[in-house]
Amino acid sequence: MDKILVHGGRSLEGDVRIGGSKNSALPILAATLLTKEKCVIDRVPDLSDIHYMLTILGRLGAEVERASGVVQIRAEKIITEAPYEIVRKMRASVCVLGPLLGREKSAKVSLPGGCVIGDRPIDLHLKGFEALGAKVTVKGGDIILSADKLTGARINLRGRHGPTVLGTGNVMMAAVLAEGTTVIEGAAEEPEVIDLARDQMGLKLSASQLHAADGRVWLREHRGEFDVVSVIPDRIEAGTFLVAGAIAGKRVTITRTEPRHLEAVLTALRTAGFDLSLTSDSVTISPNGSRRPLHLETLPYPGFPTDMQAQFCAMLATMEGTSVVTETVFPQRFMHVAELKRMGATIDLDDHRATIHGVERLSGAPVMASDLRASAALVLAALPADGVTEINRVYHIDRGYEAIDEKLNGLGAHIERVKA
Ligand code: EPZ
Repeated sequence: MDKILVHGGRSLEGDVRIGGSKNSALPILAATLLTKEKCVIDRVPDLSDIHYMLTILGRLGAEVERASGVVQIRAEKIITEAPYEIVRKMRASVCVLGPLLGREKSAKVSLPGGCVIGDRPIDLHLKGFEALGAKVTVKGGDIILSADKLTGARINLRGRHGPTVLGTGNVMMAAVLAEGTTVIEGAAEEPEVIDLARDQMGLKLSASQLHAADGRVWLREHRGEFDVVSVIPDRIEAGTFLVAGAIAGKRVTITRTEPRHLEAVLTALRTAGFDLSLTSDSVTISPNGSRRPLHLETLPYPGFPTDMQAQFCAMLATMEGTSVVTETVFPQRFMHVAELKRMGATIDLDDHRATIHGVERLSGAPVMASDLRASAALVLAALPADGVTEINRVYHIDRGYEAIDEKLNGLGAHIERVKA
């Protein structure tokens, strides 16, 4: 397994280009199962999670071609059983359930396991499928769906931790081929969900309309074909590089991004005392000397994103004063705290709340990557740290960040990737 060595103490300066969104591309790739037509999707990031999804689609019978960031998929003849040995590697594989059910009225996919950020139930996905008329069976670790037909329904998908992002997308993808109108209440409104639903997906919606208003997504019968779809910029990659600029930057600009998707993150950075300047597709961050601790709470979009929580913990660990970070979406999502403490951070964990007492400087140490965003947080913490930080199990980072080491080196960092 590869590891990376981060030589701390270098300051970052310059521009970094943001890639296409992993969390938008994954359901859009799954949605190609809805049609026999050829689909062309642009700005698909080169990530191991994307590779897993393309492998699953291929094993379901789709023809898949990839040339740099453009993916062409034609799912003319498909089977409806996703292979366990691949599905188990990526929880997001669950989003093939909706299109398989919508198109073939049957699906068999292994239940996703839990993961380090906490239990990952899919009860809300299954509730939505049942509301459309599907029979749901869980047997031998598989979810088995079957339906004579699917009929539009009014469904509330809000769970005790708020809306479900992949659940909203999954039920949408089944509902677009149902007879009649489906209204999803308590729908997730993350930009990735809107990207999946929007006609930008090239869905020529005849007698159909999709819009998300007040957390509700209206879907009517759908007959259509796909044109080229271009995936939205990855707002979490963008936020991660802004935090890199906050932690170790003189002046860092992220380009080809969508500032509108970053409001809560930009507000938090301004409150913490950083100067930001925006254009329609870029954000520049520069420290202005005053840095202030924060009280943050993660919330469903448009609130502060849970996927940026670990990165902000890394930043706040070296901010003077005491910050408090409350995680409401995945309450156990603090795998990064123990590793940050190995680097000298002073953090008290109490249930789903981290109290961070800023220290002057962290020190490099061998640390272990655990999940995608916790791993990115360790890279960020290592940038200003004294000495070298060795980050093991780097495959966690490669799931969601395309060449993060190269992009940071392009800004002036000194990061070596050591092939195992
Ligand atoms: C998506 O996961 C993202 N993944 C996650 O990003 C992100 O953290 C999460 O949304 C929240 O924003 C992808 O899009 C591939 P949820 P998802 O269903 O859809 C509970 C990353 O780092 N819940 O919105 O799986 C659940 O336990 C990843 O890129 C149920 O109770 O998350 C959680 O507490 C990590 N029942 C909350 O809802 C369900 O049926 C939100 O989960 C489904 C979810």
